[in-house]
Amino acid sequence: MNVTTRSEGLTGFVTLDNPPVNAIGKEMRQGLLDAVAWAERENFDRVIVTGAGRAFAAGADAKEFDGAALEPYLPDVLDAIEKSFVPWIAAINGVALGGGAEIALACRMRIAAPQAQIGLPEVTLGVIPGAGGTQRAMRLTGLETALDMIAFGRPLRAGAALKAGLIHAVEDDPMDAADMVNTEELQCIVPTWELPAPDHDAAAFDAIRARLAQRSPGQIAPLRAVDVVEQGLSLPFDQAMKLERATFLDLKGGDQSRALRHIFFAERAAKPPKDLPPASELTEIAVVGGGTMGAGIAYACLSIGLPVTLLESDAEGVERAQANIGQLVQTGLDRGRLSDDGARALRDRLTVTTDYAKAANAPLAIEAAFEDMEVKKAIFAQLDAALSLDAVLATNTSYLDVDEIAASTNEPSRVLGLHFFAPAHIMRLLEIVRGARTSPRALATGYALGKLLKKVPVLAGVCDGFIGNRIYSRYREAADTVFMDGSTPWEVDEAMVNFGYAMGPYEVADLSGLDIGYAARRRQDATRDPNRRYIPIADRMVELGKLGKKVGAGWYRYPGGGGKVEDPIVADLALEEAHFAGIERTDYTEDQIVERLVLAMINEAADVLAEGIAQSAADIDLVTVFGYGFPRWRGGLMHYADTLGVPHIVERITALQAEDPVAWKLSPVLEECEKRGLSLAEWSTE
Ligand code: 3HC
Repeated sequence: MNVTTRSEGLTGFVTLDNPPVNAIGKEMRQGLLDAVAWAERENFDRVIVTGAGRAFAAGADAKEFDGAALEPYLPDVLDAIEKSFVPWIAAINGVALGGGAEIALACRMRIAAPQAQIGLPEVTLGVIPGAGGTQRAMRLTGLETALDMIAFGRPLRAGAALKAGLIHAVEDDPMDAADMVNTEELQCIVPTWELPAPDHDAAAFDAIRARLAQRSPGQIAPLRAVDVVEQGLSLPFDQAMKLERATFLDLKGGDQSRALRHIFFAERAAKPPKDLPPASELTEIAVVGGGTMGAGIAYACLSIGLPVTLLESDAEGVERAQANIGQLVQTGLDRGRLSDDGARALRDRLTVTTDYAKAANAPLAIEAAFEDMEVKKAIFAQLDAALSLDAVLATNTSYLDVDEIAASTNEPSRVLGLHFFAPAHIMRLLEIVRGARTSPRALATGYALGKLLKKVPVLAGVCDGFIGNRIYSRYREAADTVFMDGSTPWEVDEAMVNFGYAMGPYEVADLSGLDIGYAARRRQDATRDPNRRYIPIADRMVELGKLGKKVGAGWYRYPGGGGKVEDPIVADLALEEAHFAGIERTDYTEDQIVERLVLAMINEAADVLAEGIAQSAADIDLVTVFGYGFPRWRGGLMHYADTLGVPHIVERITALQAEDPVAWKLSPVLEECEKRGLSLAEWSTE
């Protein structure tokens, strides 16, 4: 049973009990409905409802969302609770989210534990509250707070919920407090649905819509939620509830909700492979290199309480590493993420040195030095000499061959790749690169660090660029081809932003520096397929010193270090190069730009699957969403590909072969999926 009941005197106790987080499925809804009837039969003077374990309730069971809604429906259950002559009190012991919060809002009274959180995060799953959240929250908190909670899906901590009027009290023991509430006082509380709706406030609606346009462009659910709140203001409660429910059901069946649910569950399914042995105990970490990546990795480890020895090659490097970490600490302080004491303790855990012997006891070292094979091999030789033979050695390389690095060490089985994304203390993705000889224990240790850092771990095989950068380099190549053959960087960027990326590929390149891609291309010179078309524009940019934002000019100009400005000289470069190459340029539409860039990625991702570099289509989705800014509400690259449909993709890629048969060589996985009528998700789970 998902709901258990017991009584003491005139009090009925109802416990939501569906581990681990009391998601509300059919059985729980039925249990609650039965509990209403039970409490009335017993003529209790109150019912206290709470959650078993750490949560009150995490919301509707999203696993049910794929099918038709099942009776009894949550709004009907909550209507029964709210209108029962026995008043219900929610003793909110932990998170009360979505439907969980809606249960609490339908109770006559809400008392929360200090650690509780209450929120309506439905938009993060592409739906809106579907059991009264839009209508009850605004009656309790007023318009602005309710709009903020619902449109952005951010939960309130107990203290803030109390201030906002969402709950009645915060108590260490909410069950006990609920039991102590005076019966007359309880009876006098007006049920939420009977409270008047707030007055319409045009300014509040304008403001929230403007913020949504900026923060979640392309997403439907937040705007629909705002519409439902607005329309609900002038409707009787029961009609507003019907509107809310119809909107919820409509969105639940839509592409965006499907995509967001897919990412939600894929993120939670990202776990270590089964049967790994225990990881090494992570008592401290050695990080080699204090540049942007190394400092970010060190800071991330320091932030979760791990002592870090940061190894540099000389005094200048030590100074630079200290400055980089100092900067991260300062930002943490400025943003209120770190207290003064926390910053002091964090600095105390850090040693920056050139002496590898100081890291002798580290069970894990992460090398984050310059992307050069000889530099890396020299570092691994020093780690070999200084650390115990048990220590796991990881490289944060983005492109280089992990097997070659491993082969240069005295024990290749302890080497793996741990590919972080900048800024390393913020970006959630961690590619865990398994080399040909990586031991299960080394792999387990990589996963253990990922878990401590709350990363989304994705297992990758060894190849140039692993999963993410390999796919991204095809995206870049397709962008440069479109640019050379007819577009401009700003048209490409605008098209991809309208598709849902926060930034287009050219703005991203300006931020990371054009020299990075240049170095990668020089590494690839020796092995590049000579039949593959090579677009020289990015090389010319570097030769002209246009290295990106850091020098004030890249694909865009940044006058005075400020915002980006289109640069006609850059547009002329493409005209010039196209002229030299005898290309007749085409005017691409936005749809054509998006199609080419996205298809190029999908085709490469299918090869990544075929070669076993990624384990599943869902893993590629996680990589593209958590590491590369692919719009989450499109579900990641492969989920999006499956919404386009494999036959359509094959048809379009085949058509593009007329332009360039090498670049558009169809992946065998796509061919096979088409023949066998499989989606990419089905192919990878077979
Ligand atoms: N439905 C189904 N399963 C859920 C779930 C939900 N709403 N919420 C969590 N779970 C599952 C997870 O998939 C995971 O399963 P697993 O153990 O098999 O991997 C397990 O519960 C534990 O979840 P987490 O790993 O996320 O645990 P955390 O402690 O890190 O986080 C949480 C707990 C904050 C509750 C987080 O799970 C969460 O944010 N859940 C979703 C909350 C949400 O969006 N609720 C709204 C649902 S829509 C709704 O309620 C509609 C209503 O208005 C009608």
